[in-house]
Amino acid sequence: MSLPPVPPTRIDFTPEDADWIAEKIKEVLGTGRLTLGGYGEELEKQFAALHGAKHAVAVNSGTASLEIMLRIADVAGKDVLIPANTFFATASAVIAAGGNPILMDTDPTTLSTTAAEVERRLTPKTVGIMIVHIAGFITHEMPAIVDLAKRKGLWLMEDAAHAHLATLDGKHAGTFGWAGSFSFYPTKVMTSAEGGIIITDDEKMATEARIYRDQGKASFFQNSHIRMGYNWRLSEPHAIIGLRHLQSLPQMIANRRRIAAKYDAALSSANGVRPMLPPKGCAANYYKYVVMLPDGVDRVTLKTWLKDEHGVQCSGEVYEFPLHKHPVLTQLDPGNLTGAEIACGRQMCLPIFASMTDAEADRVIAALDAAKRQGLV
Ligand SMILES: Cc1ncc(COP(=O)(O)O)c(C=O)c1O
Repeated sequence: MSLPPVPPTRIDFTPEDADWIAEKIKEVLGTGRLTLGGYGEELEKQFAALHGAKHAVAVNSGTASLEIMLRIADVAGKDVLIPANTFFATASAVIAAGGNPILMDTDPTTLSTTAAEVERRLTPKTVGIMIVHIAGFITHEMPAIVDLAKRKGLWLMEDAAHAHLATLDGKHAGTFGWAGSFSFYPTKVMTSAEGGIIITDDEKMATEARIYRDQGKASFFQNSHIRMGYNWRLSEPHAIIGLRHLQSLPQMIANRRRIAAKYDAALSSANGVRPMLPPKGCAANYYKYVVMLPDGVDRVTLKTWLKDEHGVQCSGEVYEFPLHKHPVLTQLDPGNLTGAEIACGRQMCLPIFASMTDAEADRVIAALDAAKRQGLV
């Protein structure tokens, strides 16, 4: 009898989680308080506390949280540095807020950027820097980037869509600069189905974010619009789902770390792949487990073989190609982003999720060994 496939990821809600969520949703259906209510507030309180931040503002996506932060930073007509190796929304949020994204290259050993690269890409119109913690890794260069931003009088913000509870020297993702943005999209390390959240220590940023997320209204009960906001509200059913996952988050990440440690111990260039190890001082959350393939390996052939012969389904890459390779963003290409092209071109993500078993991880390792024997890596 053949074994069931090992999926690239699994979105885990236990039957107890489902019961709890159903009960709370029934309760809010009864009260009619379906948006911007007590569960959203509780999600904010607990998320901020867990990440060591003073304030959190929940919204309806990670894209919304980015755009709100950028609107508050007033980027219209100005340049914002963002990595080339990131998701479309990091760039589209800058553009939607009226700003001009300037792409920075990638250090393939961290999947992030460096302080030297930030400095190289500065323009006279640069007002801020958006760092993205790809795969839940925080680069060891963060303190140098924080210093550089201070020296140059620029703000620093983080797109921490991947990085819930990841730390560098004990400091949480999202707390290095002015504000941090997280996504609760279903495949992230925790989900509210759809949703996002901003964390900040700046009370003014938090107050403004609450105004922006609710159509720029002066307050919930006032119909006077004082900012160019939008409907970025998180509904109570979404907040309830997110709150339940948040309560399991430390355990879910501990499980991801256990699987990652198993992969780290078993995989090396002897298997034809190089595991991406977290930068020094970083406790990654392993949103993704990334390995680098040697130059010349045909990633598509390898992944198809792992799936067809061993039932091991490697997900899409974190990013298969950098931002400037997307047809709608080619105008952002400054022409010299080879680090990002290498990082995207050679990576492969192995299955990892909170409920993954040791036996499933062993199957992935055995399948990679077999691919090596087969000459595919
Ligand atoms: C790096 C990054 N930024 C922003 C986002 C946008 O988050 P959302 O899908 O919740 O809008 C994502 C989500 O996929 C992401 O990976």
